[in-house]
Amino acid sequence: MYNDLVKFIREQFQTQDFIPLHAPVFAGNEHKYVAETIESTFVSSVGKFVDSFEEGIRKYTGAKYAVACVNGTAALHMALILAGVKKDDLVITQSLSFIATCNAISYLYAKPLFIDVDKKTLGLSGSALEDFLKNHTVQKKAECFHKLTGQRIKACVPMHTFGHPVEIDTIAEICHKYNVILVEDAAESIGSTYKGVHTGNYGSLGAFSFNGNKTITCGGGGVIITNDEKLGKLGKHLTTQAKVPHRWEFVHDQIGYNYRMPNINAALACAQLEQIEKFIENKRELAKSYEEYFVDKNIQFVKEPSQSRSNYWLNAILLNSLEERNEALTLLNDAGIMSRPCWQLMHRLYMFHDCIKDEQSNAEWIYDRLLNIPSSYRVKINA
Ligand SMILES: Cc1ncc(COP(=O)(O)O)c(C=O)c1O
Repeated sequence: MYNDLVKFIREQFQTQDFIPLHAPVFAGNEHKYVAETIESTFVSSVGKFVDSFEEGIRKYTGAKYAVACVNGTAALHMALILAGVKKDDLVITQSLSFIATCNAISYLYAKPLFIDVDKKTLGLSGSALEDFLKNHTVQKKAECFHKLTGQRIKACVPMHTFGHPVEIDTIAEICHKYNVILVEDAAESIGSTYKGVHTGNYGSLGAFSFNGNKTITCGGGGVIITNDEKLGKLGKHLTTQAKVPHRWEFVHDQIGYNYRMPNINAALACAQLEQIEKFIENKRELAKSYEEYFVDKNIQFVKEPSQSRSNYWLNAILLNSLEERNEALTLLNDAGIMSRPCWQLMHRLYMFHDCIKDEQSNAEWIYDRLLNIPSSYRVKINA
């Protein structure tokens, strides 16, 4: 059974060599733009590529403001600062996520509060969120507080897992109703839309990552998007050391951060952004082939949720048990085909094991069964 899967994956990538989970492809203007940056000597946080990357992201996502950052974690950290998260606040998120979501919350000495995920989207469940807020919170002066601990619940950070959009309109409505600021961890979902709107636009803020393993990459990089002028301008100010603009004086008006994406990374990012639709079309074709392959295999292929267009960043399958998952993991990796389980659930890590949480039965069910399989842009197929 898994031998057949190995053969199928090898056919998709047309190679007998090791097949990684997700490899970047530099097939456009990357060399040209990076060389231009070096020649200009503007390799750091000032330069034309940072500005044009922000402009490109604005156009591509439809957001009014974009703030380019050094990486996705910094983008998320800054988005939470802009959302007003403070020490001892609670921030709702999902346990099934990469650790950066919880790390960014922790940088502010706030605590994650884990709500279960939905089995269809793999992201935060709207109904579990509503149940929790209805039963465990009170409103005081238009703010949301946890009944038992009295802590403020300032923000909610759903994550678009593997590029598949969560039911973000429902979540946005619930957050609005309970006075909780919505920040989308859209690190994995560049190019993914829900009901025709790019992810990251439903929240007050959205944060993306351009790490080497993402759909488009600039080595390390991230961006915050927002449609709120005040947040957009403050984001740019805080990510550039909160320096007051002046020809020669160095004056800073608050504690700032050295979070601005360097121009040399932005050069790569611009070249990658030019190719994003080609990458996503190619990745969606691969997802379609996987979907057709798994139809009669007693293995569930994770499809994009309804009313959404996923970038299919990482393809995922659900086996029937933890034992089956482990068997497939071993066989595929032994055969030189990289596959990976889900991140260990955050509520099981010692740093977060005492955080408030609801029942995590869907997250635990998914963790036991899910496997990511190779998802790169296929250069040979497109040639
Ligand atoms: C869900 C999620 N959040 C945040 C990040 C952080 O992004 P970065 O690695 O660019 O800091 C990533 C990716 O790495 C991610 O997958």
